[in-house]
Amino acid sequence: MKNVLIIGGSSGIGRKLAEAYAAQGCMVVVTGRRLEKLEQLAQSSSRIQIVEMDICRTDNLPGQLEALAASMDHLDLIILSAGTGDLNTALDLTIEMRTISTNVSGFTAVVTWAYGYFEKQGYGHLAAITSIAGLRGSRGGPAYNASKAFQINYLQGLRQKAGHARVPIHITEVRPGFVDTDMAKGEGIFWMASVEKASNQIIAGLKAKRSVVYITRRWRLIGWLLKILPDILYNRL
Ligand SMILES: NC(=O)c1ccc[n+]([C@@H]2O[C@H](COP(=O)([O-])OP(=O)(O)OC[C@H]3O[C@@H](n4cnc5c(N)ncnc54)[C@H](OP(=O)(O)O)[C@@H]3O)[C@@H](O)[C@H]2O)c1
Repeated sequence: MKNVLIIGGSSGIGRKLAEAYAAQGCMVVVTGRRLEKLEQLAQSSSRIQIVEMDICRTDNLPGQLEALAASMDHLDLIILSAGTGDLNTALDLTIEMRTISTNVSGFTAVVTWAYGYFEKQGYGHLAAITSIAGLRGSRGGPAYNASKAFQINYLQGLRQKAGHARVPIHITEVRPGFVDTDMAKGEGIFWMASVEKASNQIIAGLKAKRSVVYITRRWRLIGWLLKILPDILYNRL
């Protein structure tokens, strides 16, 4: 039986993935901070277990994850969906630091533990949800885009590391445009995918063990445009 760990599944994309993997017959452990949301999720399937966990508390995190993994016998797939993102045109330092704490420090604590766990186990698949926002800076929330750029590069580093070590550890980066969750806010939202569509495409991409999965697929075009647009034009947007 496939065992799946979803970090950050009390709502949004992580929650939908948990429901979908449980429906496929997998055992799924889901973490998050909002216990009441997790409890509701656990009631939806006997194959879903929940653990309250804050990825910003990085001192405790490796020990908590180790204990959780020990209770599961083995883990085949770890998905990191926990993340935060706020519009911050005022450059409020509290918001910027919270973003860095979650999307950079918390992210790093989770993925380093996951990689080490899979190394010891001898195989595994690690996936994390980044964002198209990581491809370029943004005046709307500089820390968010910068944190997603960090994640994109970090995952590439882990993929290269696994390749060099010739260990069967697969690293998938899921790169959404807009998905209809609490996090999708602000003006100029377009090509918004339903959570169900996003979840289906993520599961298909993970099954195919793809390195990068755009959600939805048409966002690959925006990603390409973002990368080639000269600064002189991009800075006017
Ligand atoms: N929705 C979009 O349009 C969009 C676009 C691009 C990328 N993304 C990325 O997709 C990922 C999932 O977001 P979503 O859209 O599904 O939004 P969401 O519904 O707000 O889900 C975010 C999840 O992260 C968890 N989380 C946040 N901070 C955490 C912390 N400190 N410790 C543990 N868990 C934490 C939340 O759980 P608790 O609050 O219970 O802890 C929640 O389960 C994020 O990384 C986001 O950046 C989303």
